[in-house]
Order: sequence, then C-alpha cells, then structure tokens
Amino acid sequence: MAMNYKCMNPFEFTLPTKIVYGPGCVGKLAEEIAAIGGRKPLVITDPGIVKAGIVAIITDFLDQSDIEYAVFDGVEANPKDVNAEAAAKIARQEGADFLIAVGGGSPIDCAKAVGVLLAHNAEFIKPYEGKTAATLPNPPLITIPTTSGTGSEITFSSVITDTKNKYKMTVKSPYTAATTAICDPELTISVPPAVTAATGVDALTHSIEGFTATCSEPIGDAAALYSIELIAGNLLRAYRDGSDLEARSNMLMASMLGGISFSHSDVASVHCIAEALGSMYDLPHGTCNAIFLPFVMEYNMLYCIDRYARVAAALGITFDTEEEGAAKAVEYVKQLTKDVELPTFASLDPDPTDFPALAEMAYKNGSNGSNPRPMETADYEALLKIVYEAGI
Ligand SMILES: [Fe+2]
Repeated sequence: MAMNYKCMNPFEFTLPTKIVYGPGCVGKLAEEIAAIGGRKPLVITDPGIVKAGIVAIITDFLDQSDIEYAVFDGVEANPKDVNAEAAAKIARQEGADFLIAVGGGSPIDCAKAVGVLLAHNAEFIKPYEGKTAATLPNPPLITIPTTSGTGSEITFSSVITDTKNKYKMTVKSPYTAATTAICDPELTISVPPAVTAATGVDALTHSIEGFTATCSEPIGDAAALYSIELIAGNLLRAYRDGSDLEARSNMLMASMLGGISFSHSDVASVHCIAEALGSMYDLPHGTCNAIFLPFVMEYNMLYCIDRYARVAAALGITFDTEEEGAAKAVEYVKQLTKDVELPTFASLDPDPTDFPALAEMAYKNGSNGSNPRPMETADYEALLKIVYEAGI
C-alpha cells in the first residue's frame, strides 16, 4: 500500500491532560482533586446530566470527602457564549478555584471557555476567539465525560456559539486542555440509543477527518486508526445494548483516541458543515456529522484514496485495490449511519433558501483549509443540495 506516512514532516505533539481511565474510576475523584491542589470547584453541567443522576454521583463523592462545591447546570446544547459568561460569574461569586465539567461535549467545551474568562478576569468570551487570543493559564479543570464522541475531555478546543452573530467560534490555546480527564465507561451506560448513535458517529468523523486532514501527523494517525477499529467493532453493540460495558468502554476509548487525532491534526469539511448547521438551527452536532460524513468522503475520494483504503482496513473491510477499499469505506459509513437509525437531512427540515448562507459559513470555518480536497462556497452549496435531495 503506497501510503504517505508523513514521518519526514516536522511536528509538535503535546497532550497535557492526565488521563485516568477505567470502569469505576470516578471513585478516584477526591484523590485527583488532592493531586491538583483544588479547594472548591464549580461543577459545570447540563440539566440532562442532572436528571440522569450523574451529577449526584459526583457531588456525593465531594460530600463524602468534605469538599465544598457549587453547581452550574445551565449549559445548553451547542453551548452558548452566555452560558460560559453566566458560569464564570457564579465561579467568581462562589470563590471557586477550579472547575469540574460533567457531561458530553457541551458542558466540557463550556468549562474550557469559563476557564479562559476566569484566567483573564473577563466578562465576555468573544475577544478570546481563535488560537492566539487566550494567553494566560486557565484554572485547573477536571473533565468527566458521560458520552463517547466529543473527545473534548482531552482536546484543547472549546466550540462556543456566538449568539449575536449565530455562528460557532473556536476558543483554543495551549492552556485550555483539561488538567485531568476521569474517563469512566460506567457513566456512559445510561446514554439513550439516539445519543449513542450521534456521538459515536461524531467520534468516527473525528478519526476519519483527523486521519485525512492536510495537517495530519503520525501519532494522531495511529490514534485515529485504532479509534476507527474500535468504533467498527463496538458502536452497533453499544447502540443495541446500552448496558454492554465492554462495548461502552471500547467506545469511550475510541472517542478519546479520536480526540487525540483531530486535536493534533484538525477536523475538516464535515465539521465545517455540521458547525454551520448547529449554529443556524441548533441541531445536534453528531447527527449533522453523520449525515454529511459519507458525502464528504465521496467528494474527497480522489484526493486521499490511500488513506481511505487504510480507513477501510481499520473498519475490517477486505479489498484488492486501494480504489475498491476507499469506495467500500464510504459504503460502510453510509450503512452504519442507517443501522444506527440517524435521521436524514431533509427530515431535520432545513430551509433550502438558507443553503447559500450555510455554505458561506462552512467555507469561512477555520478547518476548511484542512480538508484533503479544497472546498469553495459553491462546493458546499452544491453538497447541501445533493444531500438534501438524496433523502438518505
Ligand atoms: Fe465533532
């Protein structure tokens, strides 16, 4: 197989987050708080995680260890700038000296933005958009993921919706990654099938986009391929039987490895479209990725046949030529999104008159340049139409 392994390319790789992993490891929370020297946390979460009883598990551990805390449970889906600003206000009022994020990508991304606000003693997050604006170390952050998809527990990125301008901005710096990620697969058992499906395909998208991005590098590539292999063997299992702890554990590992891949490489055009849709219609991120992943793969095909063939091999597909493998990888992804019963684009009821604006937003996304095949605004608009009319 004639793959470019990119080992001649210079790169840097930093993973500052301590990973504590394994079923039941959330029991080490107090130990990890002592290790970072934390006194009083603000627990950042959302109402769904409270309702699922997971926040109570965390606060029970804090109570048992006589650790004082405050809770902010107002994080919305596609976390908003106003959520982070409200949480930072509470953190200041409560005298919190560190943060604990509990939930999927939304509370974790929000907590990173709260850290930036606290570090810079700032009221608004907008000035910290981009990769260079946040220049001071965040307060310590412990991330406790409850879904397998985002990878946010170990990435530097915080994707926040700018509510005034209705678009998703990325806040990222060397200081935004968590201090410690406590990754306990038992906390993902109660995730409903539809969320398991959407978040699982989000993880797959991270690994495929991370592996094929123009800026990919070998360590992230290795993580991506193992992640894809784990997803192939476990997403359907976790979707069909949420209580399957082995499948849940493998998916949590897959999502973390996907996070390692894309945060050291990048995401690409699937995320550019998904983030535009998320900002305009407040749709679930993973669902938007799932709809567009196979179509963007088809669009990219000729530019990364060797890499898609490696994706096919990781998915467990057998093939004779790279062309055949790459084509089979696209078909596999299409079938997988059907098997986990993700909705069609048309069923989400997008307004076709919005497509030019969505295309423009996708084109302007900071990750557009990382797509293996260049995409202009017109290409995004054409793709939106194709997927809308395909009805699958
Ligand atoms: Fe994502």
